[in-house]
Amino acid sequence: MSNKKLIGYKPLPYQKEVNDFFKELIKKDGGVKNKKKNSSHTVVVLSPRQCGKTLLIINQLLYYALNYSTTNMVISPTLSQSRRIYNEILKAIQKAIPHFIEKANENNLELWLSNRAAKPEDLIESKIWFKSDEQRQAIRGYSVSGLLCFDESSFISDETFDLAYPFCDWNKSSVLVCSTPRFKKGRFFELFMSGQTGDENITTFNWANYDLSTVRSSEKMEQLKATVPPQIYKSEYLGQFLDADSSVFNNIEACIDNNPPSIEDATALYCGLDFGSGQNKDNTVLSVLNQDKKQVVIYATNFLTPSQQILWLTEIFQKYSNKIKVVNAEKNSIGAVYISELKTKNKNIKIREVTTTQQSKRKWVEKLQLAFENEDIGILNDQDQLNELAFFEQKISKNGEVSYSACYGMNDDRTMALLLAYDAMSAPTGQYNISFY
Ligand SMILES: Nc1ncnc2c1ncn2[C@@H]1O[C@H](COP(=O)(O)OP(=O)(O)O)[C@@H](O)[C@H]1O
Ligand SMILES: [Mg+2]
Repeated sequence: MSNKKLIGYKPLPYQKEVNDFFKELIKKDGGVKNKKKNSSHTVVVLSPRQCGKTLLIINQLLYYALNYSTTNMVISPTLSQSRRIYNEILKAIQKAIPHFIEKANENNLELWLSNRAAKPEDLIESKIWFKSDEQRQAIRGYSVSGLLCFDESSFISDETFDLAYPFCDWNKSSVLVCSTPRFKKGRFFELFMSGQTGDENITTFNWANYDLSTVRSSEKMEQLKATVPPQIYKSEYLGQFLDADSSVFNNIEACIDNNPPSIEDATALYCGLDFGSGQNKDNTVLSVLNQDKKQVVIYATNFLTPSQQILWLTEIFQKYSNKIKVVNAEKNSIGAVYISELKTKNKNIKIREVTTTQQSKRKWVEKLQLAFENEDIGILNDQDQLNELAFFEQKISKNGEVSYSACYGMNDDRTMALLLAYDAMSAPTGQYNISFY
């Protein structure tokens, strides 16, 4: 029985290499379930996005499940992704060989496959489980005799990896690990590196080394390079690993304005306001950009009392009230108290309360990264600001979440104010907005 006909899958050259490798592996092992084989083998596929990793996994799973009586599993980062794979596999089988479906449990995402009417010697009875990193607690006590797959494994926690890997121990069964690369840490990176440096139980395929112009033309790549944050372009489109905990903003130097325009000449002003947490600690910073995305001034203080700060800011706001389009003010913690007071004293100024979450921060950071990369912003040659920007870091938590903050011992108030000011330029200005995020 050939699974290729099954879902009209004609492997692309780089997919076929992996398919062929598995065929050879099975032959070398003396069959899928030959316990005498030496050890479990892992195949690692690194690839830019949208090149056909998931389709490869689907077909390789079907190859094992339909040709050999086996238990198989695929693990995705999220439940919705595993549901998508479940549905695709089910649809494919329903279309081509519906009699093979013994039972399909869409709640637990499990498939039982069998050609029950076949002669005993041809009888196949297989299972496929569809699991996700989100249901980590449900991944326990399974045994895989066919193939264990990880899809987008850079986004699957090491914990889940370590829970699932031993499912192959008993049968020394095979593992297929596919992903776009992310940071130089975590199981995907480790496996890929081990395979590249001679571990004979790991075979790596790097699709980034292939001609992928049928997936994305060179014009498309140019366009992506200009519009996608550099880190994402590098990992998801070039297929390269990123330095873990690396600095966030590149090309800062090229954006420094040594002859900055004056605030008096500006026709419009966009402000970002980050409140400090008290006297002599971090600063309260107001960063201001003009209509051309050029920074014109950074106001900072760390010695005024809260009520003095309100007066200080009010004075600035009123002086430029006819030019200020919007003030993005960070609402977190102390911000909320200040903002209501500021609003009362500056009814003619559009003050947007914004709440910083890791998610909103990421969005602002990506915008500013692009602005630096494309030299689409001018910043003042302010040493404190330049230091902060250079030491602004991204950190990756255990479960792969990216977060941004100043590196240990540094402030990030000037950076935050700049992020907010830059975001203010794309904020709607036609109406008063109380809260956006
Ligand atoms: N061999 C193939 N033949 C036809 N279409 C393919 C093939 N491989 C992948 N595709 C299509 O390309 C798109 C991306 O494939 P997918 O497996 O989702 O990529 P990835 O998981 O790498 O992001 C899908 O629409 C898929 O159907
Ligand atoms: Mg995919």
